[in-house]
Amino acid sequence: MARVLRPKDPDQVSARLLDASARTDYDPFVDIDWAAPLDPGKAYMPLERTSLYGTDLWRGLSQEQRVELSKHEIASIAGVGLWFEIILMQLLIRYAYDLDPATPHAQYALTEVGDETRHSIMFAKAINRIGAPNYGPGRLLHNLGRVYKAIAGGPSMFASVLVAEEATDRLQRSTMDDPGIQPLIRMVNRIHVIEEARHVRYAREEVIRSVPKLTRAELEWHRLSTAVTAIAVMDALVNPRVYKVVGIRPRDGRAAALANPHFRETRRWMVEKVVEFLTETGMIGGPTRALWRRAGLLG
Ligand SMILES: [Fe+2]
Ligand SMILES: [Fe+2]
Repeated sequence: MARVLRPKDPDQVSARLLDASARTDYDPFVDIDWAAPLDPGKAYMPLERTSLYGTDLWRGLSQEQRVELSKHEIASIAGVGLWFEIILMQLLIRYAYDLDPATPHAQYALTEVGDETRHSIMFAKAINRIGAPNYGPGRLLHNLGRVYKAIAGGPSMFASVLVAEEATDRLQRSTMDDPGIQPLIRMVNRIHVIEEARHVRYAREEVIRSVPKLTRAELEWHRLSTAVTAIAVMDALVNPRVYKVVGIRPRDGRAAALANPHFRETRRWMVEKVVEFLTETGMIGGPTRALWRRAGLLG
């Protein structure tokens, strides 16, 4: 049963978020030492969170290959995150179009657009610095995103944004204080985690405020839209082309990852908190809950 969370005054919340933004925001051009050497022995993400960890294919890889795969998987995740941030910037701009620009609520939406422009540049520079391609979400999702960013709105827009932000946040948080991870990646992740905490707060408040206003039919529509978008983003995070760098055919790597209980658990762990929130607020529920379950994203 969905719990009713009490909405707060949007301008009060946004005023606090604007204060926090003024105190801590980062410029990827000056706050990251892009010239610092990479450490060849250090992984780019926790190895146990890579998609093939624990499989027969994994056992066949040398330590160097495992580190190399971690580099390309984090590059793929960052590339998909970057793609979704560009979508989000357009959604937020469209959202702000109808708000009174004098209000803190509108000004925070615009501030978040500013954060995301810097994040996207930071991810692009990081992908380039570690020597990986921008894998992106694949051609189909790239084109579906074109439609999505033109029409999405309301609670499902903020709920889908939350899934993308909170899932990557959980992974990034787990690396920030891990000395086994490349310092460059840890710094990128630390900056992102600090700024995303504010975005998550803003989007969560939007969901809490807007879900109770929906009719039954609208609620089911927003649940469906959230499920389809969130699952598509989660499925796209690891582009199968990453496996080529360690001599594994993309389709073999993809099949092994999908059947890998460690990876299924990682996906579930990444969305654990946001799934709990969306269930509490009613954005996961009804018939479309089955889609989440089939995707392996429910606890
Ligand atoms: Fe971001
Ligand atoms: Fe964000």
